[in-house]
Amino acid sequence: MKTQVGIIGAGPAGLMLAQTLRGYGIDCVILEQRSEEYVLSRIRAGVLEHPTVEFLHEMGAGERLAKEGMPHEGIDLLFRGEKRRIDFPSLTGGKKVTVYGQQEVVKDLILLKKEFDGQILFEAEDVAIHGAESDTPSLSFTHEGQTKTLACDFIAGCDGFHGAGRKSIPEQKLRLFEKVYPFAWLGVLAEAAPAQDELIYSRHEDGFALFSMRSPEVTRLYLQCDPDENLEEWPDSRVWDELHKRLEAKDGFRVNEGTIIRKDVTPMRSFVCETMRHGRLFLAGDAAHIVPPTGAKGLNLAAGDVKLLSEGLADFYKSGSTAKLDGYEALALKRIWAAQRFSWFMTSLLHKFPDGAAFDHEIQFADLDFYTGTETGRRNVAENYVGLPFGWSG
Ligand code: FAD
Ligand code: DHB
Repeated sequence: MKTQVGIIGAGPAGLMLAQTLRGYGIDCVILEQRSEEYVLSRIRAGVLEHPTVEFLHEMGAGERLAKEGMPHEGIDLLFRGEKRRIDFPSLTGGKKVTVYGQQEVVKDLILLKKEFDGQILFEAEDVAIHGAESDTPSLSFTHEGQTKTLACDFIAGCDGFHGAGRKSIPEQKLRLFEKVYPFAWLGVLAEAAPAQDELIYSRHEDGFALFSMRSPEVTRLYLQCDPDENLEEWPDSRVWDELHKRLEAKDGFRVNEGTIIRKDVTPMRSFVCETMRHGRLFLAGDAAHIVPPTGAKGLNLAAGDVKLLSEGLADFYKSGSTAKLDGYEALALKRIWAAQRFSWFMTSLLHKFPDGAAFDHEIQFADLDFYTGTETGRRNVAENYVGLPFGWSG
């Protein structure tokens, strides 16, 4: 087999790259280790930044998003029982975010790739990268019991944190940064109408809580918990008690209860692999960076990487110039570190740190007062939340 760009991974990064390359007339094949059903059922992020929504429209993947996505013009930060709203459009020149589940983005993009050329192979196992430093790289893999080779001009490692892309880069070349947090999120998906139209991020003395949604019928909720939390110890009644307590507000807000259809625990880490290129292998998305979910940046960062990488590849095929590909890593890292800072900031602002002293807690409240009580503070949160422009360089 032969293609121009071999893409490892059919998550948001790999699928957006494939759809964008299609627009440039560049061929690609996606190799995904999991089954299509598995990929489609993975519940993850829910908030799309303003630039991500524009990008999805630009690449021709915005049809259902326009109909079913829920535009949000603000968020509430809840502390000491009071909700303080941050209004996005008035602080960012009219921008907003859209709530549309990651699995919906993935579903739309898989369909587009299948309808276009069908070059997406699920259950492709043992994917291995060969000759990344040569002009003729290739991918070997096993599919339907046969060992195959895909010759390519370039390889895109869009295979998430545990993928083969980053692992194939020689260790001495890797520039890695990591921070692990002493808590996790217990997430639940409930068949309950969202009790209000916008998200609530709560700093509560018993720990962080987040009120979000997926549709007019489905609420998504998160609770700060221990990283090694045992879900067996969280019967539905305990989940609801804790959510009511942590999200209760003086304005009478109360979450609506409903059947819990999913419960999961997400660990929290900040991670950056600054080495996003090794010869003709380029990393994009979670393969190169992980953010703690507070701030909803994960999927949006993947979109920013893909935008830059696709432009670099387009330039190469159009004019033979490698200038943009050569600049990909440095430019992508600017926005990645900005989002890392914001995700770390939101995480630090809103969680209860197990070893936090009374002094640290009061600093959190002083920060919450500043970031919600001054226009400078609110603008800072709003600009970062709706998303810095793709290709942002400071
Ligand atoms: P992924 O979505 O991880 O996709 C990588 C793909 O590559 C997968 O389909 C995987 O099966 C495939 N793959 C891996 N290894 C190989 C291999 N060797 N060969 C072939 N294929 C391979 N972000 C938020 O903003 N908010 C959230 O609430 C949120 N919740 C999350 C919960 C969980 C459990 C996780 C893991 C992430 C969450 N994120 C969240 C982050 C967000 O979902 C990711 O940032 C986003 O999925 C990144 O997309 P990606 O395509 O780079 O990686
Ligand atoms: C969701 C997840 C987030 O990490 C976040 O900050 C906001 C919303 C969600 O899953 O809906």
